[in-house]
Amino acid sequence: MKSIQSNIKKAKKYLDNNHCIAVPTETVYGLAGNAYSDSAVKKIFKLKKRPMNNPLIVHYHNINKLKEDCYINDNFLKLYNKFSPGPITYVLQLKKKSKISKFVSNKQKSLAVRFPKHPLFKKLLKNLKYPLAAPSANISNKLSSVQASDVIEEFGSKLKYILNGGKSQIGLESTIINLIKKPTILRFGGLDYLKIEKILKKKIFIKTNPNKKIAPGQSFLHYSPGIPLRVNIKKPKKNEAFILIKKRKNTLKNYYYLSKKSNLKQSAKNLYSLLRKIKKDGYNMIAVEKIPNEGIGKTINDRLSRASKYKTKWRAC
Ligand code: TXA
Ligand code: MG
Repeated sequence: MKSIQSNIKKAKKYLDNNHCIAVPTETVYGLAGNAYSDSAVKKIFKLKKRPMNNPLIVHYHNINKLKEDCYINDNFLKLYNKFSPGPITYVLQLKKKSKISKFVSNKQKSLAVRFPKHPLFKKLLKNLKYPLAAPSANISNKLSSVQASDVIEEFGSKLKYILNGGKSQIGLESTIINLIKKPTILRFGGLDYLKIEKILKKKIFIKTNPNKKIAPGQSFLHYSPGIPLRVNIKKPKKNEAFILIKKRKNTLKNYYYLSKKSNLKQSAKNLYSLLRKIKKDGYNMIAVEKIPNEGIGKTINDRLSRASKYKTKWRAC
């Protein structure tokens, strides 16, 4: 308990001085900085090697502070009351008088906002006078981090501090919904969009692959482990690592199970760590067996299908 307090204090000190630190969330780790500070936000882009035209998500402790920065509407309130804190990000209209650094959203009039559920991150946000801009804690286009050791792998000593909150419970990024006009899903994520439809009592638009890219998380290179990956495979090639969800009678050396009991939530939690491990084990090709396309399985399939486009000429912006 005492060490939790002192770690939060340390984290706060770095953030108050406009440094970036890594923070744990229930989805993936974030690379956080003061969203009101131009210099802190610029440091995030630099550390992550992220193009400045790719906007960041801002994390709030609760709705009161958000109201100073964004216009809210009925759809937002319905979803906020049901799902926040949790793995959902809302795109809202930014107020002119908002204190959010103009670098956060590339001078756009919208802002992506989220209310994280991880108890350590919540506690930290409660102690701050400003919200935190935080993209996933990885170098641009690499795999997101789901634990402190992944963050170290990504940034090494370039990062001042990691608030260690154990392994992320969900393991995949938040679901992003644009609520400025007609509710539109921009990224599949930790919250099943069917649950969102149930609360809004209507069909929502899905634009996770628009012609004009709005969210670079919609692009293909984004979730790639950096080696070719094939999906819906029954039998792998000789030198391929084989990712499985269903238990096989004979387990071979190149078999990697996403979950011991074919559980989709467990599989989501393990996916990025397993991809990192396979690379470390020296494989340079991955085959994945068919993953059921239900619940969080839809998000797993979304990430895998983007990763499977690795060989195409697509470039993320
Ligand atoms: O689970 C998550 O959402 C994690 C944790 C740390 O909160 N964050 C995360 O951030 O995944 P990031 O930056 O890696 O992905 C956010 C995505 C990007 O694809 C970005 O383009 C999109 O959100 N985005 C940010 N602001 C936007 C906006 N105003 N309109 C549309 N898309 C936006
Ligand atoms: Mg990311």
